[in-house]
Amino acid sequence: MTFEELRREAQSCEQCSLAKTRTNVVFGVGNPRTDLLFVGEAPGYHEDKQGEPFVGAAGKLLDELLASIGMARSDIYIANVLKCRPPGNRDPNPDEIELCKPFLLKQVELIRPRVICALGNFATRLILEKNVSISRVHGQEFRGKGYLVMPTYHPAAALYARTTLTSIEEDFQKLKEIYAKATAAVEAPAELEAVSEQLGLF
Ligand code: URA
Repeated sequence: MTFEELRREAQSCEQCSLAKTRTNVVFGVGNPRTDLLFVGEAPGYHEDKQGEPFVGAAGKLLDELLASIGMARSDIYIANVLKCRPPGNRDPNPDEIELCKPFLLKQVELIRPRVICALGNFATRLILEKNVSISRVHGQEFRGKGYLVMPTYHPAAALYARTTLTSIEEDFQKLKEIYAKATAAVEAPAELEAVSEQLGLF
């Protein structure tokens, strides 16, 4: 299945009741060939209207955090646990997460990122498959299935809490290191190969 086929399938999904209240399915945005995938929670009011993730106030903060590690939206991919807005921005419920999960897992499979940054409790629990609390695990590195995972607070939680903002800013600097490590690790063998070739070792 291609990324476009998956997008089309999500656009017409009616598996849960959120299909009745949504304006748009918010599949995701960015570069599907990226090494760095961000996973948020669910679309909010503005995302539902525009069909794009993180376009509201939390999105502006996410852009600033990305800039602080020398990245832009075009360098990464952003997806959510739920592709449709829960009315009134309530928490996603367990049934909705279970029904929507295959879309995110397929996105991960097709993008094949080296690093996943999980934003907030819902994304972190789904990606780590563990009932952890973000306040305990944020900024730490976990090994996933072919990728590294770093959970951090959801940007929306940092909008009104100074201490959370500081934590998220620090976590992003750790993310930068984890990303550098994860991408360097795959480039090294190619470099070694080139050097070996020059030295006539092959
Ligand atoms: N919060 C999220 O988790 N995702 C969005 O797309 C917007 C706000």
